[in-house]
Amino acid sequence: KHVAVLLGGFSSERPVSLSSGKACADALENEGYRVTRVDVSRDVGSVLGELKPDVAFNALHGPFGEDGTIQGILEYLGIAYTHSGVLASALAMNKEQAKKIAKASGIPVAESKVTDRFAIQNKHPMKPPYVVKPVSEGSSFGVVIVHEGQSHPPQVIGSSDWKYGDTVMVERYIHGRELTCAVMGDVALGVCEVIPTGHSFYDYDSKYVAGGSKHECPAKISPNIYQKIQTLALKAHQAVGCRGVSRSDFRYDDRHSENGEIVWLEINTQPGMTPTSLVPEIAAQAGHSFGDLLSWMVEDASC
Ligand code: DAL
Ligand code: MG
Repeated sequence: KHVAVLLGGFSSERPVSLSSGKACADALENEGYRVTRVDVSRDVGSVLGELKPDVAFNALHGPFGEDGTIQGILEYLGIAYTHSGVLASALAMNKEQAKKIAKASGIPVAESKVTDRFAIQNKHPMKPPYVVKPVSEGSSFGVVIVHEGQSHPPQVIGSSDWKYGDTVMVERYIHGRELTCAVMGDVALGVCEVIPTGHSFYDYDSKYVAGGSKHECPAKISPNIYQKIQTLALKAHQAVGCRGVSRSDFRYDDRHSENGEIVWLEINTQPGMTPTSLVPEIAAQAGHSFGDLLSWMVEDASC
């Protein structure tokens, strides 16, 4: 099979995608596929139209790669592609829409509101601690935690340096541990805990700089919580209508009781596949080597 690996693109997560794409392209070659690497730019439609691959392996992240737009081009061209389709991609990329669906499906989410970033530059939109997130970004770009006792929202939110769109989600900050769970088809794989080392949260550097975070896989949580997280991840995957592989992120506050509070944060339809990423590690623990995982994704592709 001829596989076109789509990588790069023009979102803030371009460097992450170059890393995911390289890892995937190398591994697919090892699996015996004929691989063409396509660094995605505005003319990707004509490039793919000429290339006519059997499958497009989508290794893009963020706007234009994860939000239904490239998926629409692939549908139009009739090229089978990996991961979620147009609708699920668009819904998952928008944190507000994804949370509405999750909430309607009985998945616990944190209280939040969506607002214009200029409306909150001088006045707290809710009592700190809270988190400000661009409504459609990944890899923690533009995520700002406003701690208890801060008198004003940080200046960066209203500044001209802000590159992540004007619509932001303001979400109650959940203390506690960061858990994540991968889904492959109709099966929830394992749960990992992410422990940022020397960072206040799982920010960009702790995600992609080697040693920036520690992954505890499988997460050291009670079997009951472990199973609950798996159930919620699969439920989110199905409620949003995802295909192939996805990854749901959670916060788990166990400070006050053993059962604690679980909150679903988001679903990633194009989870990272870099050498420090979680999905390959979770899949490996479930007995799927990186090569096996990617072959499965290629064979599962459709349009
Ligand atoms: N947005 C990054 C790639 C992730 O979710 O893994
Ligand atoms: Mg994300």
